[in-house]
Amino acid sequence: MISVGASKKACSPKQAAQLSRAVAPFLYQAHAVGLGYPAAIRVAAITHQSRVSSGTRSFSTTNANQLREVYPAKDTAFIRKTLPAWEHPGYTEEEMLAVTPGHRPPETVGDWVAWKLVRLARWATDLATGIGREQQVDMKNPTTAVTAGKPLTEAQWLVRVLFLESIAGVPGMVGGMLRHLHSLRRLKRDNGWIETLLEESYNERMHLLTAQCLGSPGWFMRTMILGAQGVFFNAMFISYLVLPKISHRFVGYLEEEAVHTYTRLIREIEQGDLPKWSDPNFQIPEIAVDYWRIPEGKRTMRHLMLYIRADEAGHRGVNHTLANLDQKEDPNPFVSEYRANAEQQKPNAALKPAGYEREDVIG
Ligand SMILES: [Fe+2]
Ligand SMILES: [Fe+2]
Repeated sequence: MISVGASKKACSPKQAAQLSRAVAPFLYQAHAVGLGYPAAIRVAAITHQSRVSSGTRSFSTTNANQLREVYPAKDTAFIRKTLPAWEHPGYTEEEMLAVTPGHRPPETVGDWVAWKLVRLARWATDLATGIGREQQVDMKNPTTAVTAGKPLTEAQWLVRVLFLESIAGVPGMVGGMLRHLHSLRRLKRDNGWIETLLEESYNERMHLLTAQCLGSPGWFMRTMILGAQGVFFNAMFISYLVLPKISHRFVGYLEEEAVHTYTRLIREIEQGDLPKWSDPNFQIPEIAVDYWRIPEGKRTMRHLMLYIRADEAGHRGVNHTLANLDQKEDPNPFVSEYRANAEQQKPNAALKPAGYEREDVIG
């Protein structure tokens, strides 16, 4: 687990200054596009200098009382740094670029209900982030189309990403926890599912911690996140107990939306629609560099989003696959070794938008 100390390091003073300069101007854009909650995103951090010297904030464009430090600076006597406990497997550039938005057509009534619930969540998110008609993609192909008449603003992206990630970290923890408890009380092996699910939730939380280094939510959004977690955790808890297959399908569809979101974001960064984040000198949070082990020369927002999108594609393929398996007996194919003569060898969830069918990976 990442400690508060490590997270504090994540948004270092130098980065904080740069990130804050980048975010401050579009705080006002957020007002202009009518987000409906002016304090939705606040500047992530203040400069080290302003913290330790006279207390005067160095932001001339932003009201001082809107600024708030995400994590207060607190060094310990002995600990220099706390690294991510769950090491990221890493990706090649080719693997990241090969990820595309995709959609698994619903086959059962359960699939259809799961998909419609995700569509409803997407509609509500679009509404909450103040996305205008011209900012919408082709609504006949909402999960795969990434072209819109008008880009989102950086503030809109931040609200969207923070909300999405705060939700996305819940199902893996619920699924992993319930399978863990099931294994304990039934004295049965789990066949490798728990670790993958817990790692998924950890990975999502790293996405959230990275995003909140770019801009910290204000009281309205924090309240929304709190309420959403309360509802979603309990809904997921009941749903995973009673209908685990449909729950995995639901997460598969949720991850389709995440891949869509990050693909569109990458596209808008590449097109220069988001001038702050398109700037190759924009310094990404240190927590992200440490977690994904992003090499020198690749520490741009575009690259960071490529890493996150690849993670989401992995979750998408894993959950659609798990939804196709026997929940009680089948081993987790993504942590299994295959027989030398098996047709399938190492499954790659990220490149399988619809997931693997059971006969493909279990045989
Ligand atoms: Fe995520
Ligand atoms: Fe995800």
